[in-house]
Amino acid sequence: MTERLEDRWSDDTNFRKYFNPYREIFREASADLVSRTFADHVRTEDTILEIGSGLGELVMIAPKYAAQIQQTEQSPKIVESHQRLNPDSNVKVANVYDLPFEDLSFDVAIGYAVFDTLGNLDDALKEVGRVLSPNGKFIHFLDLVASCNTIFVKYAEQGIVPFPAFTPGNDASGAFRLVQRETARSFLNSLLPQKQDLFARYIENPESCYQLLYQDKHMHILRNMAKEVERLVPDAKVLKLNDIFTRDLEESLRRNGYNIIDSGTRDGVAIVQRNGRHRERSDINLFHNDNGFDRSRNDPQLAQELGSNQVKVVSTLYTTIAQKS
Ligand SMILES: C[S@@+](CC[C@H](N)C(=O)[O-])C[C@H]1O[C@@H](n2cnc3c(N)ncnc32)[C@H](O)[C@@H]1O
Repeated sequence: MTERLEDRWSDDTNFRKYFNPYREIFREASADLVSRTFADHVRTEDTILEIGSGLGELVMIAPKYAAQIQQTEQSPKIVESHQRLNPDSNVKVANVYDLPFEDLSFDVAIGYAVFDTLGNLDDALKEVGRVLSPNGKFIHFLDLVASCNTIFVKYAEQGIVPFPAFTPGNDASGAFRLVQRETARSFLNSLLPQKQDLFARYIENPESCYQLLYQDKHMHILRNMAKEVERLVPDAKVLKLNDIFTRDLEESLRRNGYNIIDSGTRDGVAIVQRNGRHRERSDINLFHNDNGFDRSRNDPQLAQELGSNQVKVVSTLYTTIAQKS
């Protein structure tokens, strides 16, 4: 099961197509939060292990710590791209479930938008715990919406179909309505015939249908499906992806011998020159990444405080800090 999840990260497409264009707007603000967190929790002599470094986002926003960080990443292709872009980077191919390091060899372990993509948090945190020194720290930042793939895999095993649910802020992909597979099959006959085929396919293979439909031109189909399912099973539980992930991470940390020091959403803030990244959106002076949701807007009051070519950037990251007990 976990292999299947890792296969989603066989190359750097997601980073180039989706992550970078979004992140570059908010990077200085994310860097502000990460630097303050490191200042509070990481000592200059600490050795740091990064899990799932991708193309090196963490080191890019915290360059001061680059020499201390041993980056690791499971995908050889992503490591290759990372090394091509950053020839000096200290990155190694390694899977979190089987780390090629001695027991107790790091003071701090870090993940940046990584643990939400893992299929087995318990096994990952056990293995991280093995290589962490006594009282070593675990720090995780989530700057994007938690991965939905892990949720599909997790609920498929429990016989549950996660249907799209659009939260009051109208956030696409933010939440799912959880319906027992048998209940979902039983309401098929009550649907209009032209809807039955789509629903039947979704019920049998929710993950691939969702991925297929999750694009602007098909979003209305997901919205209609969400409305229909809400009408049919109004009492089914609706859970937000980020809430599912953070709850699972906290529970797994406790189960695997870590004490949670801090866990919650934290803001990083920066005032930056409006440049290429912000210029296309000239009506906006407050750029806000809210854990993967873009809440950017124009704030008339802020306009008084900013210089003529400045914008304010805020990045809200789900930040979890724990200590091996
Ligand atoms: C959402 S990306 C984040 C990458 C990077 N930290 C960033 O913020 O750009 C998740 C990364 O975790 C890696 N990953 C997934 N499963 C892993 C595993 N079992 N062991 C190590 N890395 C893994 C993926 O290959 C991918 O690069």
